[in-house]
Amino acid sequence: MTSKEIRQSFLDFFKKYDHQIVPSAPVVPMDDPTLLFTNAGMNQFKDVFLETGSRPYSRAADSQKCIRVSGKHNDLEEVGHDTYHHTFFEMLGNWSFGDYYKEEVIAWAWELITKVWGLPKHNLYATVFREDDEAEMLWKKVTDIDPSHVMRFNEKDNFWEMGVTGPCGPCSEIHIDLGEGFCDKQHIPGHQCGVNAGCARFIELWNLVFIQFNRDETGALSPLPKKHVDTGMGFERISAVIQRVDSNYKTDVFTPIMNSITDLTGKSPLEDRSLQPTFSVIADHIRALSFAITDGALPSNEGRGYVLRRLLRRAARYGRNLDMREPFIYKLVSTLANTMGEAYPELSERAQHTTSVIKVEEERFNEVLDRGIEIFNQLAETADKKGHKILAGPDVFKLYDTFGFPLDLTQLMAREKGLSVDEAGFQEEMNKQRQRARDSHHFVHMGIAEWNVLTEGSDSKFIGYKTTASQSVIRKFRMEGDQITLLLDQTPFYGESGGQVGDKGTIQGKGFRINITDTQKEGDQILHLGEFIEGNSITQPEVTASLAADNRLSTARNHTATHLLHKALKEVLGDHVNQAGSLVEPERLRFDFTHFEAMTPDQINEVEWRVNASVRKNMSVETSQHSIAEAKAKGATALFGEKYGEIVRVVQIEDYSMELCGGTHIHATGEIGYFRILGEEGIAAGVRRIEAATGEKADHLLREEKKLIAETAQLLKCRPDEIESRIRALIEDRKNWEKKYKKAMQSQAGSQLDTWIQNAVEAAGIRIVSEKIDVESVDELRTIGDQLRGQMKSGVGVLGAVIGDKVNILCVVTDDLIKSKNLKAGDIVKTVSQLVGGSGGGKPHLALAGGKETDKVDEALKQVPEIVQQFLLVGKFLGAMRDRLHQKQLPILSHIFQKHI
Ligand code: SER
Repeated sequence: MTSKEIRQSFLDFFKKYDHQIVPSAPVVPMDDPTLLFTNAGMNQFKDVFLETGSRPYSRAADSQKCIRVSGKHNDLEEVGHDTYHHTFFEMLGNWSFGDYYKEEVIAWAWELITKVWGLPKHNLYATVFREDDEAEMLWKKVTDIDPSHVMRFNEKDNFWEMGVTGPCGPCSEIHIDLGEGFCDKQHIPGHQCGVNAGCARFIELWNLVFIQFNRDETGALSPLPKKHVDTGMGFERISAVIQRVDSNYKTDVFTPIMNSITDLTGKSPLEDRSLQPTFSVIADHIRALSFAITDGALPSNEGRGYVLRRLLRRAARYGRNLDMREPFIYKLVSTLANTMGEAYPELSERAQHTTSVIKVEEERFNEVLDRGIEIFNQLAETADKKGHKILAGPDVFKLYDTFGFPLDLTQLMAREKGLSVDEAGFQEEMNKQRQRARDSHHFVHMGIAEWNVLTEGSDSKFIGYKTTASQSVIRKFRMEGDQITLLLDQTPFYGESGGQVGDKGTIQGKGFRINITDTQKEGDQILHLGEFIEGNSITQPEVTASLAADNRLSTARNHTATHLLHKALKEVLGDHVNQAGSLVEPERLRFDFTHFEAMTPDQINEVEWRVNASVRKNMSVETSQHSIAEAKAKGATALFGEKYGEIVRVVQIEDYSMELCGGTHIHATGEIGYFRILGEEGIAAGVRRIEAATGEKADHLLREEKKLIAETAQLLKCRPDEIESRIRALIEDRKNWEKKYKKAMQSQAGSQLDTWIQNAVEAAGIRIVSEKIDVESVDELRTIGDQLRGQMKSGVGVLGAVIGDKVNILCVVTDDLIKSKNLKAGDIVKTVSQLVGGSGGGKPHLALAGGKETDKVDEALKQVPEIVQQFLLVGKFLGAMRDRLHQKQLPILSHIFQKHI
């Protein structure tokens, strides 16, 4: 069976038993802050188990994209070192939501693997949780498994939990004995093959979890209202078993990628077995990277982005084992899309984006990788010489900070050299750096002064969605220098969050008034930051809190416009566009989004047009409260990395846009007035930024432009619609003038040459021009020198020019003098340039030299006739000697002369 057939037969089997076949959820979970990546098939049904959500079916099956690289389920370290662990894998699963339970699932699992797939029964084992008598009894009752193959284990192996918190329960696993030859732990003393003994001979195939508890933040288990089934089977493992190969990496899931690596590198693990781990790591990591990037994650310095960065850097380092110094991993994306695009079409749809992201990331790391490896080798050598087995924390931190080596990459490299890493020392350096960053942070209000409690009671009730002013009571305040921070029982002030800046305004009590310059949030507390503008102490707690309503309205326009912009970008650029950051202020809005190329002017125009079309439609903006599951079911756009409480606020613009958002908005899009994009730029690999303005600000910008156009038209003495043609005509005119100017300059230079030739001195019957001139460049000097040489007919010309802080000396000699008098421009220029502290040379007819002493040019030029005369004498002498000396002696003599002149 091909892997494709295996996947399909699993789904068909459960379809037969009335299961709804559902698509895989994205591997980047959008609505579960407890997870970096989807790590199990059941993640998307967590709300059903907790009864905060429901589905219109009670049985489901799918093949889920999973990544296990962090938290409770982390297989990263194993990858490459065995045949069956992956960071990315597919999990085949089936579920019962309060429907069937242990008996059915055990019977069906047995039927599928023994009857449909025909795995040998005598090699199969079932494990159950220590206390689960029922499961053990059922294995023996509803299957024909060898009863001695049903075994009990503890929590570690047979109690499954999704993470630190969440639904969980006892589980029953099916293991297979692949045969003695598969054991990879024989070299470990005392190793005995067996179920859960950690070698590759006995491997787990399928986990049947009986979900019945929820674990909360305190660690306590509470029973769920209903009992559920959650099963998961590693697709790559079952494929290897059915295809009878001794490694997942040898199944047809991986062979196309392995072959592509061979095509790209010219190396093969079939020829050199030591390369197998390298091939496995690269093939594994490209899958995790591609699936995660396809689903919207991007490499970065934190959270899931950093996990991706680590994966890529690990893979790139392994690439060095294949002598790959240029980026190549990105080229594997197309192979993967070709192999898996049918099951997961998004892979093919976004292949271009994924390829570009990986390529840029790979290029960046490659730039520092060699240098980093060199430093690492030095550190390892020094440690070795000193007899240390541990790399010091500060050194490892330097590799991280300067060369971008993640800790686990350095650990891996250290392990290869029999060293370890001082992890605590590394963390200490990391903390120091964090502290430095914190010290330079601009918020000064945190933890500096103690709160003064003015009145008791709850605080920070936000009432600002409906009102801009309120009668409030001060609960607490604190002073830091001139700055006062206040907490009110209730407030209309919006504390900075979700990209929207905090409100400004005033808080006024009897005898005092405080100007609020910013509002921040700390947890649920809304902190009003300001300074006294009347009075200097709080005389009573009752106050009127009023925010600057104009500012708030401008901010609301920008916030609603941000939602329209997000939607328009998706429409124009595609579904891959996702919010990557946002800033909403009264003056402008800034929106960062995932997209790989610069937007074209047409795309920018189109987006601007669409937002304004939405403004003209004057669509109503409604807000409502929902559970996350309801909001998601309604199709609300949730943002990556945001943490939402159980109840979320949904901002809906008719049936056009729906986002989870806590910000303040206008009531109808018409209030935006006008929307204007001010600029579009790239801010990181795969992330673009748009700045835009709305309302009054956009109107002002338009007026300024109008004014500019009017002024330009006035200057050009034309109508505004003629500006373009006028400017084109001016440019054309300018070109013509430039041509004319050049010609005029040339003829002026010609007459200048005439003057120089007339002023030339004569020495021994030779005309010598020696002039200082004003030129912009050496090229210009050379051109004039050429012209002089042509015009002189017979003679020597030396021109000196100061360009910048350098002297340039040019000498030309006409051909007749080179022949008859043995005069060479190179010789002359060399001697002259020595007088200006320089050197140089060149051909006999034209030579150029440079010097530093700009104040000595005039004096040097004065010396030219004298110098030429000396060269004439030398030439004459050499001529006379020619007949008398042996040919070989002439150059020597000539050399001596030149050296001593
Ligand atoms: N949730 C269980 C697991 O991941 C079964 O699907 O193993």
